[in-house]
Amino acid sequence: MSAFKEITPKEIKSNPFELIGDEWALVTSGTKEKFNTMTVSWGGVGIMWGKPVTFAFIRPQRYTFEFMEKNDCFTMSFFDESMRDALKFCGSKSGRDYDKVKETGLTPAFTEDGIPYFEEAKLVLVCKKMYAQFLTEENIIDNEQVQKWYNGDYHKMYVSEIVKVLAKSDN
Ligand SMILES: Cc1cc2nc3c(=O)[nH]c(=O)nc-3n(C[C@H](O)[C@H](O)[C@H](O)COP(=O)(O)O)c2cc1C
Repeated sequence: MSAFKEITPKEIKSNPFELIGDEWALVTSGTKEKFNTMTVSWGGVGIMWGKPVTFAFIRPQRYTFEFMEKNDCFTMSFFDESMRDALKFCGSKSGRDYDKVKETGLTPAFTEDGIPYFEEAKLVLVCKKMYAQFLTEENIIDNEQVQKWYNGDYHKMYVSEIVKVLAKSDN
């Protein structure tokens, strides 16, 4: 039996700045047959169009990007410190070259709709895409960021409704 309990977004106890910025997350997209996962430490949670949402920023060269484009839903999974090495691996190697599940020992799990996440997570946000758009140089107001972060490979921003939250007691 799963140790996850379904809660509402408002019942999440953790600080999102720590969760995303410090602890990092895995963005996982695809199907039972084929999925991929990668580490993110940029992004957010909030409200858009009256719904609880996530904001994720994915560069087009990521293998995960292909899955994000093909599938309506994805998950953001958060872990405790014991999984840091797995997150480092998933944030430095590509699923094009490695089987990340095999290399990290992460255990895939699937929602009843077949959306992938990981059994080891303490908190899982199941996200349904609502809006997606590439960042563009002309829309970046703080020009310093263009020099600092980009070489033409602008992130695509995904704003997605949080349709389900699965949490363990230490979320
Ligand atoms: C801490 C950390 C945070 C990262 N955050 C992001 C991010 O927000 N967006 C992004 O496109 N890549 C981010 N990356 C890079 C991807 O995780 C990395 O390129 C990964 O190997 C892509 O895997 P894939 O090719 O299997 O999709 C991050 C990497 C690390 C280590």
